[in-house]
Amino acid sequence: MKNILITGGAGFIGSHVVRHFVHKYPDYKIVNLDALTYAGNLENLTDLESANNYTLVKVDINDEAAVNAVFDKYDITDVIHLAAESHVDRSITDPLIFLRTNILGTANLLNAAKGKWSDFDKHIFYHVSTDEVYGSLGDTGLFEETTPYDPRSPYSASKASSDHLVRAYHHTYGMQIKITNCSNNYGPYQFPEKLIPLIINNIVLEKKLPVYGDGSNVRDWLYVQDHVEAIDLVFHKGTNGETYNIGGNNEKQNLELVHLLCDTVDAQLGRPTGDAKSRIEFVTDRPGHDKRYAIDASKIKAELGWEPLTDVATGLGKTVEWYLANGEWLNRVTSGDYKKYYEVHYG
Ligand code: NAD
Ligand code: DAU
Repeated sequence: MKNILITGGAGFIGSHVVRHFVHKYPDYKIVNLDALTYAGNLENLTDLESANNYTLVKVDINDEAAVNAVFDKYDITDVIHLAAESHVDRSITDPLIFLRTNILGTANLLNAAKGKWSDFDKHIFYHVSTDEVYGSLGDTGLFEETTPYDPRSPYSASKASSDHLVRAYHHTYGMQIKITNCSNNYGPYQFPEKLIPLIINNIVLEKKLPVYGDGSNVRDWLYVQDHVEAIDLVFHKGTNGETYNIGGNNEKQNLELVHLLCDTVDAQLGRPTGDAKSRIEFVTDRPGHDKRYAIDASKIKAELGWEPLTDVATGLGKTVEWYLANGEWLNRVTSGDYKKYYEVHYG
């Protein structure tokens, strides 16, 4: 019997992971622990409200007593940890909350698990992490699992620290752990502070499309469901103590990606080609902007047979379709605090 604690399950990737596990594994009890910050949204999970193997608890991972109580009450057997402050730009303006949640919050969860679990062989602590821990690539090369850590933003430094803590609990206490470091995800329910949903929303509203610097930075894009399938595989079949890189093999310069989005949204809205592109604006670059991320995912492919199934054209098409069909969701998440964030960040 597994009672799996999924943290951050009301966020973008977390909501897809929770939905996948609740539906695919009816014998598992899924407890979604989420503080419901600006990035957590119960609307991402309305379809699960009646599922009888699903529970949501509104708890901050920094709250030691509350986290311990959840472990006890639900007899938690495993953890899939996604809760985090996740947006690089916010980490530049307000680093401390990233350190509190991503480092101390992770330590708090690890400690709760250590206190609760008596036989580590029977339990898994899985940390969902990022490729940004490896730093920034030049024009060539790929991040491998052995690439030395070189985080360069407060966000990536906090995620690197949390990875190290997870490994420390493995080496020091013998906890069974798994870590995955994944590239940029996109898909439904992503908060519109991230590039893809922000650009879609701005195209719909006929606003300027902000591209940092000259738009030549490169990211490797992965459709969120492909990430979810990888998490499922690593959780069930990955080797104890190991790290797996996950990537889409879909490198795009930011400007090229924004062009693709412009064409896709214009086409789906029936607007003339070139309409959205005319609103692209090059804006001040992100401080310390990592140039290029690219993943060597050969380990997870060879050991676990994982392959990304969705190419960028298909994934972007589905994503744009979802945002256009869910205008109410988009309106609600961009009212209130989002307006202040947008003003401060984009002027
Ligand atoms: P997100 O910002 O959309 O969601 C984060 C979730 O964590 C929200 O539901 C939020 O309410 C919750 N949360 C934040 N602080 C919390 C706290 N103190 N206690 C409890 N819950 C808290 O993030 P995301 O993009 O879905 O990313 C999820 C995880 O995957 C993160 O750990 C992130 O570092 C990692 N990751 C993200 C990407 C990506 O492209 N988005 C890629 C690789 C790895
Ligand atoms: O690589 C994985 C990481 O991907 C995750 O760990 C992070 O949680 C996630 O936020 C993401 O980080 P990025 O900084 O790469 O994603 P973001 O969507 O913020 O930006 C993607 C690229 O687009 C980046 O080069 C910055 C650029 N950008 C972003 C925004 C928001 C713009 O040019 N304009 C924008 O307005």
